Amino acid sequence: MHMHKFEKIWLTFGIGALVFFLSTIGVSAFYLGNKPASCLTTINPVKVDQTKPFNAPGLHKVEEKDWDYELVFVAQTFSFNPAQVKVPLGAKVRVIATTKDVVHGFEVAGTNINMMLEPGFVSEYTTTFNKAGEYLIVCNEYCGAGHHLMSSKIEVVN
Ligand code: CUA
Repeated sequence: MHMHKFEKIWLTFGIGALVFFLSTIGVSAFYLGNKPASCLTTINPVKVDQTKPFNAPGLHKVEEKDWDYELVFVAQTFSFNPAQVKVPLGAKVRVIATTKDVVHGFEVAGTNINMMLEPGFVSEYTTTFNKAGEYLIVCNEYCGAGHHLMSSKIEVVN
């Protein structure tokens, strides 16, 4: 079978790109251990209020973990609990969030915290707040008539 030179080059390039991208995913998933943000921990969405740590939303100091604080959020139409929270400057914080009803978003404006909250799943993200100030938390998944009202606030204080 005769193949044009350019066709061979494109074919090589295409297969090479495919191998490169699949290897990248493979290394990321199996060697570096990266996983989708919310596939690990499940929760009964109708028992969120009774399930630890969601029975006590807010900031909690923790011992003997890789982070100093756990910041627990519960989302529901159309609010976040807590509606406002203070976090000490420079603290390493594990954000742990879930939803009681439908899919909500959890985006902390001006940071790279951006999670989808799905009913039945727990979303977590570890971060350090190195800049004092107010951070707006918004829901960035359309969740109904009050979607645009859904927000919370993190105050990073000294
Ligand atoms: Cu919650 Cu949009």
